[in-house]
Amino acid sequence: MIHTSETRNTVSSTPISITSAASFAKPVHLVPSAWHEHAPFAAWIVEAVAPDLVVELGTHNGFSYFQFCESIARSGLDTRAIAVDTWVGDDHAGFYGEDVYESVKRINDADYARFSTLFRGTFDEALSAVDDGSVDLLHIDGRHGYADVRHDFDSWRPKLSARSVVLFHDIAEYDNGFAVWQLWEELTEEFPGFGFRHGHGLGVLVTGAEPSHAVRTFLEDAAIQPELVRSIYEGLGARVEHDYEDSLRVIEATRRIAQLEGEVHAGRAEVIGLQQQLADLRGSTSWKVTKPLRAARSLGRSDG
Ligand SMILES: C[S@@+](CC[C@H](N)C(=O)[O-])C[C@H]1O[C@@H](n2cnc3c(N)ncnc32)[C@H](O)[C@@H]1O
Repeated sequence: MIHTSETRNTVSSTPISITSAASFAKPVHLVPSAWHEHAPFAAWIVEAVAPDLVVELGTHNGFSYFQFCESIARSGLDTRAIAVDTWVGDDHAGFYGEDVYESVKRINDADYARFSTLFRGTFDEALSAVDDGSVDLLHIDGRHGYADVRHDFDSWRPKLSARSVVLFHDIAEYDNGFAVWQLWEELTEEFPGFGFRHGHGLGVLVTGAEPSHAVRTFLEDAAIQPELVRSIYEGLGARVEHDYEDSLRVIEATRRIAQLEGEVHAGRAEVIGLQQQLADLRGSTSWKVTKPLRAARSLGRSDG
């Protein structure tokens, strides 16, 4: 076949239905989290929903939230984002100190303050700060007991818009009282959705009656090839986790080098100190007085 200018291969800028360039972007803020492996999908879903408002329930160090924010910033969307957390922790995530909130605030102020707000309070307290029908993308990642996550979903349900999508973390965790899987099973009877199993599981629930074209196409394609979609995002997610582990190794190696340099420095100072002592001793009167004695000793050694 002869390629004319019309038939020649071209690189389309239209994202294919399950990935886009966003899915391959590296996280800017690789903070500790059990969510690393979902960063590629987080970046993709923001572009796919093109939300006016994103709300996250449960932010901790900010990893998932910063992925949403980074995708908003990169794509130039006119989106507002709200992160809700008490920033004291809970008995599932563990309790933590004030430094966690300070670090999230520092990053938010520096990079995302133009469109992002941190709401420090309970999920219930934040309800009055958000209009009904206004949330296009909701991420639920608070406590993971059945009653907790059921309450979080039911209380925030009136806030969801006609094109809303709700993400649930930990749908593939079955121990320690985690029961998001149970709510996920119930909700997928009522709404269309797609579940990832890697990275503790991420449920993508299409709650709006009028989802975006990209979200609809994703659901259709994912229904045809679910394992392909899962393995693509599992592979992309593994790269993020790998990068995180590398970053920990860099931190540890840097710490160890600093420690060894300190020891070398201390060792050098000790050598200099001892050399000085030796020089002082050699220059001392008693050293000079005992010179014949040392000479006689060395003579005795060579005679023997
Ligand atoms: C699993 S962590 C969130 C992890 C985070 N999404 C990430 O990317 O790593 C859960 C967070 O939810 C918060 N949390 C749990 N229940 C809450 C509630 N009812 N109101 C406010 N914050 C809550 C905890 O303080 C904790 O920081």
